[in-house]
Amino acid sequence: MNSPVRERTGHHRSGSASGQGEGRAHAKAILLGEHSVVHGTPAIAFPVPTLSVRALARPGSAGAVSEAPADGHFRFTAGATVATDPTPSGPRVAVEEALRRWGISDDPVEVLVECAIPLARGLGSSAACAGAAVRAVADLHGRTLDPATLYDLVQCGEQVAHGRASGIDARAVLSDGPIRFQRGTAAPMTIGVDAVLVIADTGAPGSTQQAVAGVRRTLERDRAAAQRLLTRASGLIEAAAADLSAGRARSLGRAMVDFQELLAELGVSTAHIDSLVTAALGAGAYGAKLTGAGLGGCVLALAEAPLVPDVRAALRHAGAAQTWTLPTRALRSGATSSPASTPELGTNP
Ligand code: PMV
Repeated sequence: MNSPVRERTGHHRSGSASGQGEGRAHAKAILLGEHSVVHGTPAIAFPVPTLSVRALARPGSAGAVSEAPADGHFRFTAGATVATDPTPSGPRVAVEEALRRWGISDDPVEVLVECAIPLARGLGSSAACAGAAVRAVADLHGRTLDPATLYDLVQCGEQVAHGRASGIDARAVLSDGPIRFQRGTAAPMTIGVDAVLVIADTGAPGSTQQAVAGVRRTLERDRAAAQRLLTRASGLIEAAAADLSAGRARSLGRAMVDFQELLAELGVSTAHIDSLVTAALGAGAYGAKLTGAGLGGCVLALAEAPLVPDVRAALRHAGAAQTWTLPTRALRSGATSSPASTPELGTNP
């Protein structure tokens, strides 16, 4: 992951020649290990390329812009000539830091972000927007971004969005395949399971910062109990990683259910999440759990392919706002690197 190769910017020509730069990134989902990963356990995450972000960068004009997202679109100006923003967004913080490192803070840049990832749903929208924005600005200025620098810049933005971000989102939204993440480092994973991941949106935004702070308070209340819980979490994650590579879908599903119990103990599940999990399991899914920070956001289920229509229908019936599917074999073949190469990925009609 850390080899100093040139990162794709989603753009072939030098952006500076056209006066505009372009960058892309995609959503992610955490299979197992959210929250405990902040406290040092491993976690497993995979890219969701069908939900992507495109950012366009061009030289900034006189007036500074800072728009709130509407329909996933927003625009901001970065650069030292811009008045200090008391609540800068993660993408803007990441771009400001990039300009500072490149010694071009005096050249304001305007960035337009078009984000198809639903915001605040545990799918990595903040990291993906920051990644796409930094790539766009690098493209505009003809800068080479090595993966370590890009990760670092996205993490600067993520510290704003999460409070204290483990780094799993920054790694996963820039990765072409599934990763095992621990303490800042990501390793590619072997996928032997042949099944389908179904992501269901509760429709309710969740605050990662609030969820992470709540978990911290819970863990700090009883250190011994916290240690037991984190040991249990590590055991489940290690077992799930082995199941994933050995092709044991049923056992992987059980680990997901056990991890959901643990997340509920940490206080980040909700009645709606619980009912979506129950609905997916009732329709025959191997396993289901929340994914991301919780307190809203999304549920992730694992099911064998023939049962997917039933699982999706049950999730919709239980109130899911929308669902997406991702066959694990798309992860296996590395076909996730381009949205166009994953036709089986789809949203609900
Ligand atoms: O921002 P989200 O909802 O995708 O959550 C990220 C995962 C957490 O473990 C909850 C936080 C972190 O920084 O690892």
